[in-house]
Amino acid sequence: MPSTSATRLAAVIGDPVRHSLSPTLMNAAFEAAGLDWTYVALEVASAGLPDAFAGVRSLGIAGLSITMPHKESAAACADQLSPTAERLGAVNCIVNHGGLLTGHNTDGEGFVRSLKHGFCFDPSGKRCVVLGAGGSARSVILALSDAGASEIIVVNRTLGRAERAAALAGDRGEVVALDGAHSDLADADLVVNATSIGMGDPGPTDVPFDASVLHEGQILVDIVYNPLETPLIATARAQGASVANGVAMLAHQAAVQFELWTGVDAPIDVMLASVASQLD
Ligand SMILES: NC(=O)c1ccc[n+]([C@@H]2O[C@H](COP(=O)([O-])OP(=O)(O)OC[C@H]3O[C@@H](n4cnc5c(N)ncnc54)[C@H](OP(=O)(O)O)[C@@H]3O)[C@@H](O)[C@H]2O)c1
Repeated sequence: MPSTSATRLAAVIGDPVRHSLSPTLMNAAFEAAGLDWTYVALEVASAGLPDAFAGVRSLGIAGLSITMPHKESAAACADQLSPTAERLGAVNCIVNHGGLLTGHNTDGEGFVRSLKHGFCFDPSGKRCVVLGAGGSARSVILALSDAGASEIIVVNRTLGRAERAAALAGDRGEVVALDGAHSDLADADLVVNATSIGMGDPGPTDVPFDASVLHEGQILVDIVYNPLETPLIATARAQGASVANGVAMLAHQAAVQFELWTGVDAPIDVMLASVASQLD
């Protein structure tokens, strides 16, 4: 739909941002929902973040997606935070209500929605292992905890980060070293790779753990989406586990942002197809 004088504007800010899949994804969603909205990518350097937020207020930009490296700094620039963004100390979405900028973090909700949509999997009462303790791992751990997972084992190279991440799950969070995690991995209902191992152009040994421990009846999600098939996914599939890459999480976290801005149910099938076609 061509822009009009009534068109609402949303944008992704990051540095770099020219590789972002979000403009094509969000514009496909606005189009499918028949909304007079448009979405652009804006490169913003870290030093310019406060000015960018002032610009959002003065220009009346309706919504922002926040990507690297601004997720933590954006939490400080927002006027208020959702409870999830507050606990994570990071935001990936801003909603502008009349100049009041509210920071949200939709990664975890997107992840849990992707499990329900893709596998009819409800984390409530389930044993989960999360590899990683960075920004995305923290979102996944908090969301699994909020969804009622009975146990969330966190495995990470840097112990201090693992402890801080596991604390998000309260007394259901536990840190285990990789070399002691064999039985936790074998007994888990859900295993998530939220490290960056496997990104880019991985060799066969670029795996966060030996996936030969996995088996039928388990779900393995590797939230890496580039490449679509990591060595971890290939091995887990060969072991009989149900597998997913990061495409569904990416589309579902964007769907949550779309709904926060517009109040309209997101056209998730269009959004999944848009991400998949951009990564083909
Ligand atoms: N599908 C989606 O929607 C989505 C959303 C966000 C991110 N992602 C993907 O998730 C991955 C992580 O992103 P992030 O933002 O959470 O990154 P991050 O904050 O930088 O965290 C990176 C994590 O990977 C671990 N790691 C990195 N290299 C390692 C190595 N050589 N050996 C062992 N551990 C290593 C780090 O361990 P230490 O703590 O020890 O450094 C940390 O736990 C990326 O591939 C990203 O593309 C996907």
